[in-house]
Amino acid sequence: MITLGIDTSCDDTSVALVKDTEILGNLVSSHLVHSEYGGVVPEFASRTHTSLLYPMLEGALRTAVITLEEVDLIAATSGPGLLGALLCGLSFAKGLAQASGIPFLAVNHMEGHIYSLYLSHPGLSEPFLALLVSGGHTELILVTAEFSYIELGATLDDACGEAIDKVGKLMGLSYPAGPLMEKLAREADEPIRLPRPHPKDMDFSYSGLKTAVRNYLASHPETKRQDVAAGLQEAAFDHLTDRVTRAVRGYDVEKVGLAGGVAINKRLRAKLEEAGKNFGFSVLFPKDELCTDNAAMIAAAGAARYSRLGASSMDVPAFDRARLGERTA
Ligand code: KG4
Ligand code: ZN
Repeated sequence: MITLGIDTSCDDTSVALVKDTEILGNLVSSHLVHSEYGGVVPEFASRTHTSLLYPMLEGALRTAVITLEEVDLIAATSGPGLLGALLCGLSFAKGLAQASGIPFLAVNHMEGHIYSLYLSHPGLSEPFLALLVSGGHTELILVTAEFSYIELGATLDDACGEAIDKVGKLMGLSYPAGPLMEKLAREADEPIRLPRPHPKDMDFSYSGLKTAVRNYLASHPETKRQDVAAGLQEAAFDHLTDRVTRAVRGYDVEKVGLAGGVAINKRLRAKLEEAGKNFGFSVLFPKDELCTDNAAMIAAAGAARYSRLGASSMDVPAFDRARLGERTA
């Protein structure tokens, strides 16, 4: 089955074609317009999605060397994300489905990130823990069976990637700061020491860390940027690792999958792998091109849902917030 995936949840426009677990084409266009503002400007994101969608559809079909007639399903993200941005891709997908008679399926973006793991590791079986770490989300989900999720923890304030981006702004790095933060951290001599957040249970909190860096910079203005970057990464990633090890012990799982834009970070991967050795769990990562927002993971999630549950209604709305799994407590 060939699925056309579309994701416009934030500031990347992505159009992909996926045949079963084979990615025929996965085009991602990251909007540069936001970098000079130090964060995403929602109206610019919507306008950019609108102008990119059609040429990117043509580009994806050319890359995959197929025609629209060969597509069996159109899957688009309906949320969570920026409402205006979501509406661009969702309306485009619905219009295309209506005009072509191809079935349509609405996909939850976070489920899409979980499918970046299934797509990268065909045959991946449940149960496993999914740690979703991006600019908009920090969530720990127990995947008990296909489409069955229990949310064990989520951020109480900033997302991990958002905190990295905000500290990057304080340090004068362009948005998004994650890649440069990782590069700077590798060149550190003496990482600054920052407090580790300790919110209750398996939740996350990153706003205090951001304030701690701001205060540190105010009282130590001469500190090398490399040492700040490394100190931030150590604290931010120790917090993630701490929650994962709690969940592994509490729920007796053997596999942990990392996903989302921050999942590409090598230091985070090393920390999780080290924790895996110490606590007896294996760690799975998505392919590099499936970490940041992309439509291949949306196509994969859409195809899985469609084959088990059928198409979505054309009335399905865009939504800015939603939990993927119910809280147990
Ligand atoms: O999943 P994603 O593309 O979009 C959202 O849904 O947010 O994630 C983007 C986030 C940004 O906060 C960005 O700074 C972060 O991923 N990121 C990284 C790295 N590359 C991107 N964070 C740490 N290290 C990286 N190498
Ligand atoms: Zn995302």
